[in-house]
Amino acid sequence: MKLTLFGGKGGVGKTTCASSTGLHFARAGKKTLIICTDPAHSLADSLDQVVGEAVLQVKGVANLWALEVNAEKTLDAFKLEYEDEIKNIMDTATHLDKDDIESMFKLPVPGMDELMGFKTIIDLIEQAQFDKYIVDTAPTGHALRLLNSPYLIDDWIKVMAKMRWKYRFLVKTFAGKYVPDKSDDFLMSLKKTVKRIESLLRDSSQCEFIPVTIPEPMAILETERLMQSLADFNISVQQLVVNNVMESDGCAFCRERKQGQKKYLQEIREKFGHLKINLVPLQEKPVMGIAELDRVKQYICV
Ligand SMILES: Nc1ncnc2c1ncn2[C@@H]1O[C@H](COP(=O)(O)OP(=O)(O)OP(=O)(O)O)[C@@H](O)[C@H]1O
Ligand SMILES: [Mg+2]
Repeated sequence: MKLTLFGGKGGVGKTTCASSTGLHFARAGKKTLIICTDPAHSLADSLDQVVGEAVLQVKGVANLWALEVNAEKTLDAFKLEYEDEIKNIMDTATHLDKDDIESMFKLPVPGMDELMGFKTIIDLIEQAQFDKYIVDTAPTGHALRLLNSPYLIDDWIKVMAKMRWKYRFLVKTFAGKYVPDKSDDFLMSLKKTVKRIESLLRDSSQCEFIPVTIPEPMAILETERLMQSLADFNISVQQLVVNNVMESDGCAFCRERKQGQKKYLQEIREKFGHLKINLVPLQEKPVMGIAELDRVKQYICV
C-alpha cells in the first residue's frame, strides 16, 4: 500500500496512529513521509519536534520525513500561477468588465483549497522519493470534504469548459478555426490532476483509508457514517483502529471504564466485523514523542 489515510472523529487518535504507522514503516527500512492535511496541525506535537511546510527529516529516526500541508498557501500560489488563464476564461465567455472579473476571481471555489492539499500529496507521490505516504487528516467533516474535492472541482471545470466551448464556437464561426490557448491547457491540466487523484483514491492496491475510533457511542455512530461515505467514494477500507481501549483492572475506576467499554467493543465487532480490528490500549499518559509512538505502533501495525 503506497498511500494510507487515517481519519475519524475529533480527538480519537488519528495523528497518533499516523505517526506510529509512519514510524513502523521507517523502522522497517521503508522511506516514509507523514503528511498532515489538518489545518490545525498537531503532527509536530505528536512527534515532539518541528514539522513545517517543507518536507523535513524526523530527527533521530532514519527513513522518516514529515510535512504539514498548508492548503490555503498552496491555493494562493496556484491562483497566482494561473491568474491569467482563469481571468481569460471569464473575459472571453462573459460580458463582465475587469472589476467584476477581479471580484469573481477572488471568490472562493468550493473544494479548491482541499483539492490543493491533495495536489500536494499526489505531486509528492509522483516525485517517487518515498516508499510510503501516510496521511493524517482533519476530523471527519473536513476529511470528507477533502475526499469530495475532486468531484466538486470536476463540476467547476465542466462549467468553465462549457464557457470555453461557447467562445470556441463563436471564434470558429467568425474566424474559421480555433487554436487552443493557455486557458484550454490550464483546464486540461486541472482535469488531469482531478483524474489522477480520483484513480489513486479508488485503487485499492495503492490506497487504503483506516478509520480510527474509540469505544464510545458517538464515535461509533460517526465511524458508521464515515464508512458509508468512504463506500460511496469507492475508497478501500480493510481495517479499523479502536483506540483508548482500557486494559487495566488495577483500580475501581479502571474496572468501571473497562466494563463500560465492553458493550461498545462488542458493538464495534458486530458492526465492523468484516474489517481487521486493531485495538490500541489506553496509555497512562499522552502518546507524544518517538519513544511513546514506538511503544504504541505495535498495536496498530500488526
Ligand atoms: N492510546 C492512547 N493512550 C493515551 N493517550 C492517547 C492515546 N492515543 C492518543 N492519545 C492522546 O490523545 C490526544 C489526542 O490524540 P491525537 O492528537 O492523535 O487525536 P486526533 O484524532 O488526531 O485529534 P484531532 O481530531 O484534534 O486531530 C493526544 O494527546 C494523544 O497523545
Ligand atoms: Mg490530529
